[in-house]
Amino acid sequence: MTTANSSSKVVFGIDIGGTGIKGAPVNVETGELLAERVRLDTPQPSTPEAVGRVVKELVDQFKWTGAVGITFPAIVDKGRTLSAANVDKSWIDAPAEEILADAIGLPVKLLNDADAAGLAEVLFGAAKGKAGKTIVITLGTGIGSALIVDGVLITNTEFGHLIYPKDTIAEKYCSGKVKDDLDLKWKDFNPRLNGYLQHLDLLFSPDRVVIGGGISKKAEKFIPEMTGLRCEVVAAELKNDAGIVGAAVEAARACGLI
Ligand code: BGC
Repeated sequence: MTTANSSSKVVFGIDIGGTGIKGAPVNVETGELLAERVRLDTPQPSTPEAVGRVVKELVDQFKWTGAVGITFPAIVDKGRTLSAANVDKSWIDAPAEEILADAIGLPVKLLNDADAAGLAEVLFGAAKGKAGKTIVITLGTGIGSALIVDGVLITNTEFGHLIYPKDTIAEKYCSGKVKDDLDLKWKDFNPRLNGYLQHLDLLFSPDRVVIGGGISKKAEKFIPEMTGLRCEVVAAELKNDAGIVGAAVEAARACGLI
């Protein structure tokens, strides 16, 4: 196991998801992972205590002693988790940042998982150096979203919970999980995603939409099929690392390292 050096501009990033908790040390100036990431299973039920134990195991594996940025798949406001669509309901209104900091005995910055991924794509990935309005959508268990305007992240947009197409929310209609659960072929899934992107295009007039999450590995199967949009649609570039990188950068900012 690589032991990362916490003295330079390196921060440990952790991405908490519904099924896995992944972490690695990140060079926050380049966005590079400085060691291969480690993935541990998310405990079930994913209570705060159980998740805290797994997060501790992860930082202990790297003998990490510096700042830690952590993502969470929920609304995160001033260190509290205010929703819990795909994790244990006991996270609703929990002081999550404090709970995780206490669990590992290190300073923690907590943010929404899609916000972290969005930040990473704008700084180092598919929307690097691009001006204007970028929406990053992550298609996984749920649908996560990030809105970045000229480099500034507008947090907790939750576009996956927009009512779409009708009587349901977008993440129950065109997430990666829905594609798997309903065994939708690309020809059946793509019109769902296209309709949702047209809805976002109409409501927010973004300059570009970046599609991330597990599905972005198969970009050639859906990106060319997205039509009738004013904005550009591109695949995310940082793939599975985006959350880890964005979390580390946000923690570095919070502690004044960058
Ligand atoms: C949650 C979001 C999260 C997304 C992706 C949604 O169900 O409400 O906060 O970003 O899933 O994990």
